[in-house]
Amino acid sequence: MDLELQGKTSIVTGGSRGIGKAIARELALSGCDVVICARNAEDLDLTARELSQETGQRVSAITADTTSTPDVERMVKEAAQTLGRIDILVNNAAAPGGIARGPLASISDEDMLEDLNTKVVGYLRCARAVAPHMTSQGWGRIINIGGMSARNSSGANASAGVRNAGLVNLTKYLSQQLGPSGVNVNLVHPGATRTERSGPMYQEQARQQGITVEEVEARVAANNATKRIVDASELAYVVAFLASPRSIAISGEVIAASGGAGNAVFH
Ligand SMILES: NC(=O)c1ccc[n+]([C@@H]2O[C@H](COP(=O)([O-])OP(=O)(O)OC[C@H]3O[C@@H](n4cnc5c(N)ncnc54)[C@H](OP(=O)(O)O)[C@@H]3O)[C@@H](O)[C@H]2O)c1
Repeated sequence: MDLELQGKTSIVTGGSRGIGKAIARELALSGCDVVICARNAEDLDLTARELSQETGQRVSAITADTTSTPDVERMVKEAAQTLGRIDILVNNAAAPGGIARGPLASISDEDMLEDLNTKVVGYLRCARAVAPHMTSQGWGRIINIGGMSARNSSGANASAGVRNAGLVNLTKYLSQQLGPSGVNVNLVHPGATRTERSGPMYQEQARQQGITVEEVEARVAANNATKRIVDASELAYVVAFLASPRSIAISGEVIAASGGAGNAVFH
């Protein structure tokens, strides 16, 4: 199936590494010009150069902190100038698992609000800033990256599930606001996803638990129907489909791309 992404343009927030980088790569491989944004300019520039060389598409870096409305508005303005138009927004920028974690007594208001500001209000900020571009051209796609903690609490993260569950409602709201203008908005929940962070993280867990890295990975995968850990590149396929004109029938929906994590049935 031709995803008809050739010539489309996209912003991927948090595109300097991890899931965002994999999504930026897949969109560029599918023929999109891409702007990636993140706070650390050096990492962002390195990734933009790497993805441009690898894909042959224009991949540009624009530094921005999505907790800042002026930053987001500047980033979107510069992206529109760089790309010529904005067809696709992937809202992804956030610290995985959030910073508000640990025993209840240790959870600070500041950390909780920071997590919500980054992932919930940050996604809203970016959607609000790109919306006039998409509605005026009568076409757009917004894909929000949530997380399976919306459905399963680890018991240790105070904000992770709160913000991902909040994004389910925000996604529906955005789909209703923007749908009449040709903009579809959906949410993808990653489960434990393999990125460049995974190797060192599993090594540390293996050391702490006195087991091998293979055993750590097998325990993570055991929770999935597929008994394997989803790679960020595989999650990016799902996002590329939702970013494409072919996803016209889907809006306001939540799609888990976790390899079938957990036992709960959603209908
Ligand atoms: N990896 C997983 O297993 C997993 C599971 C479930 C959900 N998720 C979700 O998937 C998304 C990506 O996770 P990841 O594992 O790829 O994380 P990651 O490797 O830590 O990458 C996060 C990206 O977001 C950027 N970022 C963070 N805060 C930002 C801010 N305020 N403004 C702009 N950019 C910001 C980071 O760059 P700078 O630090 O330079 O800004 C980086 O580019 C997150 O929403 C996370 O909650 C991940």
